Amino acid sequence: MLPTFEWRGDHLLLLDQRFLPEREEYLELKDYREIADAIRNMAVRGAPAIGIVAGYGVVLGVKAINCKEDLEEKFKGICETIERTRPTARNLFFVIERMRKVFETVKGKELDEVRKELEKAAIEIEKEVYEAILKVSTFGAELIPNNSSILTHCNAGGLATSGWGTALGVIKMAHRMGKKIHVYVDETRPLLQGARLTTYELSKEGIPFTLITDNMAGWMMKKGKISAVIVGADRIATNGDTANKIGTYSLSVLARENSVPFYVAAPVSTIDFNLESGDEIPIEERKGDEIKSIIKGIDRLRNLKVENPAFDVTPNQLITAIITEFGIFKPPYRENLVKVKELISKT
Ligand code: MRU
Repeated sequence: MLPTFEWRGDHLLLLDQRFLPEREEYLELKDYREIADAIRNMAVRGAPAIGIVAGYGVVLGVKAINCKEDLEEKFKGICETIERTRPTARNLFFVIERMRKVFETVKGKELDEVRKELEKAAIEIEKEVYEAILKVSTFGAELIPNNSSILTHCNAGGLATSGWGTALGVIKMAHRMGKKIHVYVDETRPLLQGARLTTYELSKEGIPFTLITDNMAGWMMKKGKISAVIVGADRIATNGDTANKIGTYSLSVLARENSVPFYVAAPVSTIDFNLESGDEIPIEERKGDEIKSIIKGIDRLRNLKVENPAFDVTPNQLITAIITEFGIFKPPYRENLVKVKELISKT
């Protein structure tokens, strides 16, 4: 598959996901404001990818500073501009926090040294996330039965990370292990990340798939066509409540009703230990135009109201297991995810 993005030392080459699968077009991003725009307008999307790209945004911002005067103020401004792009994905804030910590330790050095240390950190983050996600996939693949049909929502593949994938990574890994899998891909309205991006990746991987509209998922489960549901995550609270693409919550309810296991796959950088429950997760509201754009003449209707929450929260009791790079966690999540915190502190 083509790289989702590639750091080139003085710019970031970024596959513009808005045009997929129609055309594969790269953006050359040279300024941190361009990175912020690319995250906001979803040229890049998916929690881990947003996080990694945000790190390179900070690097580009600092590379453009040419004297140490007001360095701290300028650095703060760069971080805040990038943080203001999308509120839900924990990974974005996780990476900016890491970059802030690095900056604190090196800010007294020569400007060139500050730049080098931040660049080193952003590259390390990309590597760490990639390795973590491979482990997530390896653990998760054990849960996928041979000869199974797996339903996934949105895109949690290489495009949403740095080339491999969480939920889709688990599927890819199971496929590479020789398991026979058929994937049901939810279209994922309104921006069609399933129909445009997950199908694109599965097609490139040679994994058999069937595209369905979101409202068909329940019926497919009822008809016994789905062995398991697997999704990625944008933010996981300490009690296991999980924010992911709008429509995930409905799938979890349908999965429970039909006794289908419901798995979440995510690196631990998606877990927000500052939040007790999903009630505290900020949910991004996007413009109604994203919903209206496919309906010709819709704006001629009087009194039309549109709501467009980009994510919802699946309550922990509907999640069969959370798959991370530290292993597979099952309920009770409040007790079990604390173990992840201990494991993180040891690394
Ligand atoms: O709005 P998006 O496309 O950024 O939403 C992406 C998702 O909801 C993904 O499922 C999630 O970020 C996990 S990606 C590995």
